Amino acid sequence: YNPCCSLPCMNSGVCVLVDQNYECDCTATGHYGKNCETGNKLFRPSRNSLHHLMTHYAWVWKIVNSISWLQKKIMRTVLNVRTKFVQEPSPYVGMSEYPTWNNYINKSVYARSLPPIPRHCPTPMGIKGPTVLPDIEVLSKLIFQRNNFEPCPMRTNVFFAFFAQHFTHQFFKTDPKKGIPFQWGDHSVDLSHIYGDTLAREHSLRMHIDGKMKYSTQNGEMFPPLTSEANVTMSGERLMKGRKFAIGHPGFAAIPTFFVISTLWLREHNRVCDIMKELHSDWDDERIFQTARLILTGETLKIIVEDYVQHVSGFHFQLKYEPEVLHGSDFSYHNQIHSEFQLLYHWHTLLPDFLKLGDSIYTLKELLFNVEPVVNAGMETVLKQLSEQFAGKVRGRNQGPELIAVAELSIKQARELRMYPFNKYRERFGLKPYETFEELTGEQKLASVLRDLYHDIDALEMYVGFFVEHRRYRQVLGETILEIGAPFSLKGVFGNPIGSPAWWKPSTFGGEVGFNIIKTTNLKKFVCRNVKGCPDISFKVPENVKYKSVEKNVEKGAGIADIL
Ligand code: HEM
Repeated sequence: YNPCCSLPCMNSGVCVLVDQNYECDCTATGHYGKNCETGNKLFRPSRNSLHHLMTHYAWVWKIVNSISWLQKKIMRTVLNVRTKFVQEPSPYVGMSEYPTWNNYINKSVYARSLPPIPRHCPTPMGIKGPTVLPDIEVLSKLIFQRNNFEPCPMRTNVFFAFFAQHFTHQFFKTDPKKGIPFQWGDHSVDLSHIYGDTLAREHSLRMHIDGKMKYSTQNGEMFPPLTSEANVTMSGERLMKGRKFAIGHPGFAAIPTFFVISTLWLREHNRVCDIMKELHSDWDDERIFQTARLILTGETLKIIVEDYVQHVSGFHFQLKYEPEVLHGSDFSYHNQIHSEFQLLYHWHTLLPDFLKLGDSIYTLKELLFNVEPVVNAGMETVLKQLSEQFAGKVRGRNQGPELIAVAELSIKQARELRMYPFNKYRERFGLKPYETFEELTGEQKLASVLRDLYHDIDALEMYVGFFVEHRRYRQVLGETILEIGAPFSLKGVFGNPIGSPAWWKPSTFGGEVGFNIIKTTNLKKFVCRNVKGCPDISFKVPENVKYKSVEKNVEKGAGIADIL
């Protein structure tokens, strides 16, 4: 068989066939040796030691956070260390096994960090593990299916879950017709989910007066415009119940939480336009619109780093969105979405089976294409309710019945992509491969189930590995999801053009006032200034709210993936 089937090359070395044998091309990997296994011998603390340091010793971090130059120095180091794991431009795109020009220029395909496993190997995972991968339904039952809802130990709330979904769906846009690895997005935080992915859609959503976006007033509150007023189509329009609203992302009619968060951004856009209009009475509609969009991009990035990533990391070290810390370095302002990032972000276990909105409890399915509960209860009530409901733990055996089919689809997609095994990905991202299933899971029973299914720890599928890994202290996500996700996430945020030296200055954002909106925003302020009553929102359930399960009796029916 093809000797590259043993996936021998480490540290991004490239496997090449030479006379029935393999060689690893270690050029520019910083490693050498037959398998590019030997590298810089300098002492480097393990990721676990670093994680331990960042998540303990709160008093030390309090001091560090208060010393500006030290905080910036550590932030710069975090960014440099993390983002170096993302090769750019990636030689691998879609299903390409080697670099090609055609793939490089094709932006309608996700890139990837490791090539597909070669075809025609002794086993689907190369040379290790069973000759046929475990049945997806069996995996779903044994590894993913939820019996009892397990809340997130870090008190993550469902507002976080929906914020994550809203934010990421501006750049995770798998083409529904062609399927993975094809996509229809721009690979960046471009706010296309607010403003539309085409110029035509953007113009349909704009008022063309003072830079503002169209809106409608329902029950005395500002909401997105009705589809009849904006003349844009939303996917699944025939399934929409009650009022039909027009949003930048055509898929955002699917669940009402997209609508909630889109409403917040719409209000913020129009608020910022008022400020710009006041400051620049000579500016036309176009200039106010464009500047407001850039300010909202900056606000998004600030909230993502300082509220969202901060929460996910569990760090006592304060993360900051200050792009200037990278100026003068060789950091590149460009981003490409990778299939691995898309797959690891399937955090559907965050979702409980039921949501309380207004006075009623709904299954997720009952909320599909149904914004009426939000409009009727009002934004203040709904936001408070979302922030007080516990999200689920991101781990196996916690995927609700209505979304279990999405996990099955993800395993299928990862197989179609011929993803390298979990341990190979750990090694690719500088983590020590696990030696046993027990070490991976931290428990005997699950370890033995996995051993029966995969025979060898080195044959465990990447997607499954993400969800069976034990959880570290103060951690919303498993080590591997976090350590592979962080480089992509930080590259995506800090690689945005607005943070580059030529852009990151007051004049880009309409002067000091606009620049300061970005620099001083945070999640609480963003919600408070756009919602009557200023609800106090964070990504955690407030400490005074005890976990209580939300339940109702439901009949079993079709899963959500069958409907969408
Ligand atoms: C994809 C449903 C919430 C992350 C999908 C898919 C469905 C779905 C049906 C397509 C599956 C496929 O074809 O692969 C839902 C529903 C939700 C929900 C009904 C809420 C009620 C979430 C949340 C996250 C999330 C909270 C967390 C970040 C993703 C990602 C994808 C995805 C990253 C891939 C998107 C793409 O590549 O286009 N979801 N999901 N979803 N979901 Fe969710």
